[in-house]
Amino acid sequence: MSDGEPATPNDGWSDRGCPVDGFARRSFLRGTAAAGLAGAAAVSRLGSDAALADTASGVTDRTMAIPFHGQYQAGIATPPQPTGTFISFDVTASDRRQLADLFRTLTARARFLTSGGKPPKAPRGSPQHDNGILGPTVVPDALTVTVGVGTTLFDARFGLAALKPAQLETMKPFRHDDLNPALTQGDLLVQVCANHRDTTVHALLDILTHTNGAMKVRWLVDGQRNPPRPTGTPRDWFGFKDGITNTDTTNTAQMNHQVWVQPDTAEPAWAAGGSYQAIRIVHFDLEKWQGVPLAQQERIFGRRKASGAPMYAVSEHASELLDPVYTNDPQGLITPLNSHIRLANPQTPETAATSAILRRSYDFDRGSDVNGHLDVGHAFVCFQRELNTYVAMQTRLEDELLVPYISPRGGGYFFALPGVRDNRDYYARGLLS
Ligand code: HEM
Repeated sequence: MSDGEPATPNDGWSDRGCPVDGFARRSFLRGTAAAGLAGAAAVSRLGSDAALADTASGVTDRTMAIPFHGQYQAGIATPPQPTGTFISFDVTASDRRQLADLFRTLTARARFLTSGGKPPKAPRGSPQHDNGILGPTVVPDALTVTVGVGTTLFDARFGLAALKPAQLETMKPFRHDDLNPALTQGDLLVQVCANHRDTTVHALLDILTHTNGAMKVRWLVDGQRNPPRPTGTPRDWFGFKDGITNTDTTNTAQMNHQVWVQPDTAEPAWAAGGSYQAIRIVHFDLEKWQGVPLAQQERIFGRRKASGAPMYAVSEHASELLDPVYTNDPQGLITPLNSHIRLANPQTPETAATSAILRRSYDFDRGSDVNGHLDVGHAFVCFQRELNTYVAMQTRLEDELLVPYISPRGGGYFFALPGVRDNRDYYARGLLS
C-alpha cells in the first residue's frame, strides 16, 4: 500500500453459516425483490460506518474507476483500497446452465458497479433496480470485484471435476488452528474492495439482490487498511509495519513467476491468468500482546517496531525497504530463526521456491466478544501461482514466536478466476464452455 492511503472504519466479520439444502432455489435472474434477498440478515449491520468514511479518509474523488476488463482480474495486482469485504458463498444453482447464468449475472453486476452510471428505472410498482445507497448515480469509487472458486464447486453437482485447478483443495487446519467449519471454505469467494465503505456495502447488496436464488452467503469478513503512521507502509493491529517485503505488482516478470498461473503448465488451460488465493481469518490477542516488552515484540517479528527496519539496522531512520539479510547471522542471534519474517522467508536455497507470495491483507475490528475481550485481527489474504508455496510457508510458520498471540479461526483456499476480457466475456467462461 502506498503512502497517503486513507483509513476507513469497519465493523468486523460475521458467521453467516447457511445450510444449502434449506434454501429456496428461485430464479435469481428475476429475483430483485428486497423481501427475497438472499443473505439480507448478513448485511443488515453493514452500513453503520459509511457516513464516517468521507471525513475519516479524506478521499473525495469518488469517480475513479479501475478497469474491469483485462487479462487479469482487478483486485490482485491493483493497489489495495482502504476498505474490503470478503464474502464466501455456497452455490445453490442446481445445474451447470444455472451456474453459467450465475457467473453471467455476477459479471454484469461487477461490470456496471465498477464503472458506475445511472441504474435503470424500475417499472411503477416494481422493486427498485438499485438500493440507492450511493444516490441516484452509482459512482465507481475505485471498486474492484474479484471472484474465486473453491474446491467444492468441482464436486459432482456441475460435472467440473476434470477441470479443477491442480492444487486447489480444502484448507486443512495447521497445527495451532482453531477452524470453525461454518467460517471456512465455500464454493465461491467474492472480494469487494473500494475507497469507501458505503461503496462496498452498495456493491454487496446489489450482487446479493441480482443473484438471489443461485448463491447464499456462508461467511463474510470486513476489513480495513490502516493509514501509514507516520509514513510509508501501514501498520497492523500489532503496531508493526506490515507489507514491506512483497511482490512488486508493477514487475511483470515477478508477477508471472509468483502470482499468475501460466499457460502450458500442469494447470487446466482455462486457469491461465488466474491465481490461487488464500484467506485466513486470524484473531489477535492484543491484551496479551500489550504485556510483551518492545525488544521481545521485535524479536517475534524480526523487525524494528517504530521504523520497520531489519534488526541489524540501528538507526530509527533506517529505510524500511531495506531487505533483511541473514548471511552474517546463521544462528539467529540478531534475527531469531523462529521470528515471523525469518520463517516466512528463511533466504536459504532449500526455501527459495516457497518464499514469495503477494500479500493483500485487511485488518478487522468487530468490537468485543462475549468475554469482554477485543475481537480484532487480520484477514490475511495472499495470491500465488502455486498454492503449495503458501502451504509450505504456513507450515514453517507453525513454529513461529507469534503463535501465542494469534488464533486462526476460518478462511479457505480459492482460485481467483482469469480476467473478463471484454463485453462478451464473463467470469469462468473458459471453465464452463
Ligand atoms: C496473521 C498475522 C500476520 C501478521 C500480523 C503478519 C505481520 C507481518 C509483518 C509485520 C511483517 C514484516 C514486515 C513486512 O515485510 O511486511 C511480515 C512479513 C511477512 N509475512 Fe506476515 N504476518 C501475518 C501472517 C502471515 C502469513 C499467514 C504469512 C504466509 C503464510 C505471512 C507471510 C509473510 C512474508 C512472506 C513476509 C515477508 C518476509 C520477508 O521476506 O522478509 N505472514 N508479516
